[in-house]
Amino acid sequence: MKAKNCLIFGGSGQIGRNLIRKLTKNNYRVTVVTRNIHQKSYIIKTQANAGYIDVVEANIFDENKIRSLFKKADICINLIGILFEKKRGNTFTNIHSVLPSLLAKLCKEYNLKHFIHLSALGINDAIDSDYAKSKLEGEGNVLKNFPLATILRPSVVYSVDDNFTTNFMTLLNRLPAFPIYYEGKTKFTPIHCSDLTDTHLSCYF
Ligand SMILES: NC(=O)c1ccc[n+]([C@@H]2O[C@H](COP(=O)([O-])OP(=O)(O)OC[C@H]3O[C@@H](n4cnc5c(N)ncnc54)[C@H](OP(=O)(O)O)[C@@H]3O)[C@@H](O)[C@H]2O)c1
Repeated sequence: MKAKNCLIFGGSGQIGRNLIRKLTKNNYRVTVVTRNIHQKSYIIKTQANAGYIDVVEANIFDENKIRSLFKKADICINLIGILFEKKRGNTFTNIHSVLPSLLAKLCKEYNLKHFIHLSALGINDAIDSDYAKSKLEGEGNVLKNFPLATILRPSVVYSVDDNFTTNFMTLLNRLPAFPIYYEGKTKFTPIHCSDLTDTHLSCYF
């Protein structure tokens, strides 16, 4: 059977690495877009057998550069997300709203079969959070440009590789007291990274 081509943005992260391993075992050829091929290519390349992964360095907002990658793709997955705004255009709006809009537009233009976009749980109610507002706006833009997109909304995603719960555990181990976020009333629905990526696979198998 001919391998399908999957284009992944944000594939060097926790969820991306786990997903690449599963996709390539299921006969997908994966192209991963990263900002820094020197820093990230060994992390990405070691997830699958040779021949299954291409790594491309690009500025994600360089439409001309990323446009060419859509020509041979069957599926596109967007895993790019930030928890904090940084300098040089790395704002919540740019990363969570403008970028997904661009990717969805290109998926439509190049007639891709699927576009899967990672959003986050609870964003409708978190009205005081710029993160949540940008994620919600991003979902709207995705559906406007690619109405049949699949949007996944996980809560906290944990695994040995994640930077959130593992840091949390370290702090809990070391500190004599720990401040409780929002008086302890915040509820999480944690999901293991592997269970989440199984959900990705079930979206298109
Ligand atoms: N982890 C969770 O608990 C959780 C919960 C809910 C939703 N999500 C969503 O799920 C998606 C994937 O999460 P993850 O935990 O795998 O994320 P991650 O480990 O932080 O990785 C995200 C990837 O995005 C790319 N990236 C980050 N900042 C960027 C920027 N400013 N410009 C371009 N690329 C950038 C990075 O790729 P390069 O460095 O290779 O360019 C990075 O590998 C995100 O959209 C996130 O919001 C995650």
